[in-house]
Amino acid sequence: MLGCIALLVLYHVRNKEDEHVDLPTADPLRNMQPTPSMKAVLKYIWVVSILILVQMLAGIITAHYGVEGQGFYGIPLDKFLPQSISRSWHVQLAIFWIATSWLATGLYMGPAISGYEPRYQKFGVNVLFIALIIVVGGSLTGQWLGVMQKLGLVDNFLWGHQGYEYIELGRIWQILLLTGLVLWLVLMLRALLPALKKKDESRHLLTLFVIASVAIAVFYAAGLMYGRQTHLAIAEYWRWWVVHLWVEGFFEVFATVVSAFLFCRLGLLRMQSATTSVLFSTIVFLAGGILGTFHHIYFSATPVAVLALGATFSALEIVPLVLIGYEAYHNYTLSKSTEWIKAYKWPIYCFIAICFWNFLGAGIFGFAINPPIALYYIQGLNTTAVHGHAALFGVYGILGIGLMLFVLRGLYPNHHWNEKLIGTAFWMINIGLLVMVTVSMLPIGIMQGLASIQHGYWYARSAEFMQTPTMQTLRWLRVPGDILLATGELLLVVFIIGLKTGWSLKDKR
Ligand code: HEM
Ligand code: HEM
Ligand SMILES: [Fe+2]
Repeated sequence: MLGCIALLVLYHVRNKEDEHVDLPTADPLRNMQPTPSMKAVLKYIWVVSILILVQMLAGIITAHYGVEGQGFYGIPLDKFLPQSISRSWHVQLAIFWIATSWLATGLYMGPAISGYEPRYQKFGVNVLFIALIIVVGGSLTGQWLGVMQKLGLVDNFLWGHQGYEYIELGRIWQILLLTGLVLWLVLMLRALLPALKKKDESRHLLTLFVIASVAIAVFYAAGLMYGRQTHLAIAEYWRWWVVHLWVEGFFEVFATVVSAFLFCRLGLLRMQSATTSVLFSTIVFLAGGILGTFHHIYFSATPVAVLALGATFSALEIVPLVLIGYEAYHNYTLSKSTEWIKAYKWPIYCFIAICFWNFLGAGIFGFAINPPIALYYIQGLNTTAVHGHAALFGVYGILGIGLMLFVLRGLYPNHHWNEKLIGTAFWMINIGLLVMVTVSMLPIGIMQGLASIQHGYWYARSAEFMQTPTMQTLRWLRVPGDILLATGELLLVVFIIGLKTGWSLKDKR
């Protein structure tokens, strides 16, 4: 591991002198006219805003069940919204809104990059939009019907709730979602084709972008590899192909390529150096990430050799995350490099925040639970929720927000933004997330871990332990962080609405 880190340091030092770029004197994207299909992407962002709010609400309700048991301030909410539904919706909606924001960005970027609007592209974007609404609405309803036992066992698998975290949605919805992802790929590729055919220097980075997008879509299909009655150990294996290979493999690649690409389009990075750097990161991410999948199945009927492989390779995943501070600093200097770049301040700040959360949420909190001996005692305790929130929301949620802000910059090009509003939202979201995970969830997780080591795993999750006054107080301590984060998300949505109504716009650019 030390060798890999040394290699990375060496690589960065050697590439430093290569960094000088002649910065454009004005925003190169300022005069880009959005095509009809690019404009059609706006409604995706509206839907993301709604989903963010509903997801947050589902999280708050789930958290509240943790202290009150069944009710919501005395209202017997669990009668029609049991915890298993609020938690499932919370997790599914996280995936849905993050995915939707990325899909929207991809659809927007296609014609923006190639300067070419294929025939019926807008129609395709609209059809995909309707399909997404059907999958989101249908799968959430199905989950409710399933948990409330209104479907038979077979229909529950097909339309209801599969019972597997992150791919809770019934099989039919899963297939429809995969179809939607393929449609997204087709729409994007049609638009990108002219740019891919051009043999200029952006072709390689573009090819990497296409590969990352194809991998995201195709690997969702791994979730179809098990059936209704497949053995749990096998189903788990395939489930992690989707979840882990996404978040610790292709998503990382997608995030790196997308941010590099946007900086290149803005003329702040040279295509050549961005491409080598992205290729290098891709190799490092995938080197640890692919075999690292086994860190989720240490204890599900896995041979010891596989456990060792998983532990070793997943430990290597920390390597690229160690140097991420350098990337954050680099992005920060880019955000200060010219006058016109101020218009992109908040998308760029999101990219900086992603670096922070990649380091803390994925790197530190992920690494801490990663060795087999740690996970033997603490698998699925609150330490996992700490890592889950800090990594999934911190990295990919905030990436989704940053990408949306970038798209919105292009769709509302003529005015400066209400910095106060979007700035407050940004800081509340980030500080709220930090407070939420460190003040409440982490101490609970550590105490659960100690209880598990001393008395056994069963005890760490038992009512006797979880309902002690100290634990109740710690759980209530979620409230400050939750409120900050929730208000931040609300302000973000207020900002997005304000771009339409005007309160988020300032003087002309
Ligand atoms: C006010 C905001 C939020 C609150 C109150 C909240 C609350 C919760 C609660 C109570 C759980 C269940 C934990 C458990 O079962 O031990 C949970 C799980 C989860 N939440 Fe949130 N959450 C919030 C925001 C978010 C956001 C913004 C995301 C991602 C975009 C997110 C993603 C997740 C995930 C992935 C899990 C499953 C974690 C695991 O498996 O351990 N949450 N959340
Ligand atoms: C941005 C990248 C990452 C994201 C979005 C992410 C997300 C998640 C989520 C949501 C879970 C909860 C799964 C569940 O509820 O069962 C999880 C579990 C886990 N993650 Fe990550 N993760 C990332 C990177 C990492 C890294 C770099 C490591 C360590 C090398 C790591 C190690 C683990 C381990 C060991 C678990 C299993 C915990 C358990 O079973 O209780 N993750 N991850
Ligand atoms: Fe993983």
